[in-house]
Amino acid sequence: MTLICHMLAVAFVQVLIVLGNWSLAKNINFYNVRLPVDPTPFPSSFKCFTCDNVVDNYNCNRWAEDKWCPPNTQYCLTVHHFTSHGRSTSVTKKCATREECHFVGCRHLRETSRTECISCCEGMICNVDIPTNHTNAVFAVVNARRTSGSSRRAVSVLLAVSITAVLIL
Ligand SMILES: *[C@@H]1O[C@H](CO)[C@@H](O)[C@H](O)[C@H]1NC(C)=O
Repeated sequence: MTLICHMLAVAFVQVLIVLGNWSLAKNINFYNVRLPVDPTPFPSSFKCFTCDNVVDNYNCNRWAEDKWCPPNTQYCLTVHHFTSHGRSTSVTKKCATREECHFVGCRHLRETSRTECISCCEGMICNVDIPTNHTNAVFAVVNARRTSGSSRRAVSVLLAVSITAVLIL
């Protein structure tokens, strides 16, 4: 019984390897193929630095959990409040939807006489820096995304097949 299970497992791994080679061979770009270090919860998942109203960027990044973003979000958003001397008073970072990213830019908050800058970016843990002026308080989207799409798809096909294998065995 255990021997049969073992043989089945070996056969399945071989099928996996063949399938893997076949799906990756369609678009070989070894610079783009990065196998996930820890398992991704779903295809095209990403992480953002996440902190809520922390005193400055150092303390945000230092203690921030880089957590997987929920499937309805596509970007990392950063809200930075600072004084007229440029001293940070509040840093908030989180996963965001496209709608939340419509509010990028800097504005003066009359009630606290602080400046608020909001930026959005796309990509794995892209919100390391904080926006400080109109140059960096922008919505930064990765244009190269389309080209890496098919190799990413190949990896997710592999992932799906592996999960099926685990479920069957
Ligand atoms: C915006 O801030 C960045 C980083 O602090 C700085 O390098 C750049 O010169 C600033 N740009 C403007 C227009 O002030």
